[in-house]
Amino acid sequence: MPRPTVAIVCPREFKFTDHEASVERPVLGDVAELTTVWLDFNAPFPAEVLGADAIILWHGPRVTAEVVAGMTRCRAIVRNGVGFDSVDLAAAARAGIPVCNVPDYGTEEVADHALALTLALYRQLFPLDAEAKRLGWRINVQHRMRRLSTQTFGIVGLGRIGTAAALRAKAFGFRVVFFDPYAPAGAHKALGIGRVGTLGELLATSDTVSIHCPLTAETRGLIGEAEIAAMRPGAFLVNTARGDIVRKAPLFAALRTGHLGGAGLDVVEEEPLRTPEEAATPNLIVTCHAAFCSPEGMVEMRTTSARIARAAVLGEPVWNRVN
Ligand code: NAI
Repeated sequence: MPRPTVAIVCPREFKFTDHEASVERPVLGDVAELTTVWLDFNAPFPAEVLGADAIILWHGPRVTAEVVAGMTRCRAIVRNGVGFDSVDLAAAARAGIPVCNVPDYGTEEVADHALALTLALYRQLFPLDAEAKRLGWRINVQHRMRRLSTQTFGIVGLGRIGTAAALRAKAFGFRVVFFDPYAPAGAHKALGIGRVGTLGELLATSDTVSIHCPLTAETRGLIGEAEIAAMRPGAFLVNTARGDIVRKAPLFAALRTGHLGGAGLDVVEEEPLRTPEEAATPNLIVTCHAAFCSPEGMVEMRTTSARIARAAVLGEPVWNRVN
């Protein structure tokens, strides 16, 4: 009987050059033949992918209902990453193919990034760095450099990353509160933090608001003009979740008027930034949707994907199923 095959599918423009599949092979090599396929965006899936027993899918190539219909033996489509909008989940479910993802490979990195942005704002790293490199030595930003133990760090969404951010903020001495209508009763007790019942309460009581909920129909534009107006004067806003949760026009306007003291964004509505004027918004730190990045996280992500694919080809239960 031929050995099962696992196809690793990645977009051609993606700089994935590991022809040996050096992370996946030690996990899968004893039970399956591995093949890596580079595809142009929207290019048809070749026979070696359609005929594979499991597919590991990097971000990009779209698995439409038509692609699913062409799969002859597939027992799992594993998204090598968090998002799975590139896969027609319903079509895969109808075909009896589980779709799985890897939701947790960047939990620590994203929480670290949220706190890095927060600390950069509180310690005014960038204005002071710019001043020092202008060969100046004046401290014009002292009013924003507040003692952390006097400050409230408010979290929207106490999931994996929100919890990791809460632990970090707590360690720095912040008073930590969260708003999450879906968190179980007692979540605040387990962590020794505060819980508020409404977003309005969180905005009114937090000196820093850090966004950690997913982008859903409910959270798109969750932080708009009214919510930004409801934030404390001089407060900081940090978003490492998804750009479309925070409306950028009222946010940038509040930074220009000085109503908000700063913002740290890893994600931006309609990212990347569009104009030099946006980029020149005062007290704005932006990073390039890079919060998840670390070589360790990449290895963890690929290892988890390979383990799920291994379970699939062995006929064992898969995990992280999303359809
Ligand atoms: P998670 O699913 O573990 O936690 C999300 C939390 O948000 C849950 O506790 C949920 O109850 C809560 N939530 C849902 N709707 C809410 C609402 N309307 N108001 C308040 N809370 C709400 O997700 P995880 O792993 O913590 O990730 C959070 C988000 O971080 C992801 O959805 C993703 O968008 C983003 N992310 C960003 C990365 C980056 O590189 N910047 C990398 C990885 C994730």
